[in-house]
Amino acid sequence: MTTDRLRVGVIGAGIGMFHAQAYAALPHVELAAIAGLDTERVVALAARHGVERTYREYEELLAQPDIDAVSVCVPNALHAPVTIAALAAGKHVLVEKPLARTPDEGRAMIAAAEAAGKILMIAFNHRQRSDVQWLKEYVDSGALGRIYYAKAYWMRRQGIPGLGSWFVNKAMAGGGPLIDLGVHVLDMAMFLLGEPEPLAVSAATYAEFGPRGLKGWGAKQSTGTSVRYEVEDLGTAFVRLAGGTTLLLEASWASHGSAGDDYGVVLYGTEGGAELTIKDYAQDQTIRLFTDVHGLPHNSMPRVPRGEDGHAAVIRRFVAAIRDGAPPIPGAADGLRRALVLDACYRSATLGREVVIE
Ligand SMILES: NC(=O)c1ccc[n+]([C@@H]2O[C@H](COP(=O)([O-])OP(=O)(O)OC[C@H]3O[C@@H](n4cnc5c(N)ncnc54)[C@H](O)[C@@H]3O)[C@@H](O)[C@H]2O)c1
Repeated sequence: MTTDRLRVGVIGAGIGMFHAQAYAALPHVELAAIAGLDTERVVALAARHGVERTYREYEELLAQPDIDAVSVCVPNALHAPVTIAALAAGKHVLVEKPLARTPDEGRAMIAAAEAAGKILMIAFNHRQRSDVQWLKEYVDSGALGRIYYAKAYWMRRQGIPGLGSWFVNKAMAGGGPLIDLGVHVLDMAMFLLGEPEPLAVSAATYAEFGPRGLKGWGAKQSTGTSVRYEVEDLGTAFVRLAGGTTLLLEASWASHGSAGDDYGVVLYGTEGGAELTIKDYAQDQTIRLFTDVHGLPHNSMPRVPRGEDGHAAVIRRFVAAIRDGAPPIPGAADGLRRALVLDACYRSATLGREVVIE
């Protein structure tokens, strides 16, 4: 391990705020620069962490030779170009989810990391939750037996992010809640299941509220007038995995139902079952386990202690991968596997039939 300070830059000042905060809290790391087009937000973030260098365009930050690594926290369409440019400039990269809009973009990013000999990691922050990590260990202990069916969901009642913003523009975002929220729970489920190969997908998507200007974040954002809205507001998919396991994936930004802003994973195994239920980002009492005890159904609720913030955990791992050669987890390859499933979801929804993942 080197004692030199690692100099990092953050590109994008939305979720980039969490990246900046996590870097600023780490020893041997200097948060050296922040870039973003929204100058006011960038300057305020820089001031909060005593960062002297701020830029508008990402290219200006990447031109700084002393910066070793960057977080790429920009709209999805820019993940590939900014990441590839950063790697070419010799920086290690932590990119926000989703890896990219398409598998082809993801492959180009991974090839760029290999060519540059630099680390490329992805911010799957929800996977870092202490309950998810505990459940992974429990699953790996064999306690559930063979898991043959799983569900992963992120359902919101009212939470279309930014009606009229890049989030609802197909070219900028690549899709709606499936690629935005579904990618997180798909990641959690595939991680818990031990990364089985995805084989085929049958999916459907709907846009029932967005085009009417309804159900934006917060009641005041429901305009009730038609807006340009190009992505789904609910997606559902049935995913066939190697070994016969199947996964039901659903994601919504807007729906008439009991959900607030709820996500989780359900696992059905031959010896036991598990439900991870996170209502409105709750941290406690999120896991229920199901089995039979002496011939009778038995439920239990392990109390998993809270862990560190998800972004803080990802960024600690990113810095450890660069400085100490720790495994770069979650890596870009996981991001690419999620992109393959999501791409198949959108193709299947368009075609109206199951599609095979090549
Ligand atoms: N992991 C999570 O929990 C989580 C949460 C929210 C968003 N995200 C992801 O983070 C990314 C950004 O989302 P957001 O909500 O922060 O969006 P946002 O619109 O709030 O912020 C985007 C930022 O990118 C900057 N930007 C755009 N073009 C740029 C350019 N050419 N050069 C420099 N900066 C540029 C903008 O100025 C802005 O600061 C998305 O990929 C999104 O999926 C992840």
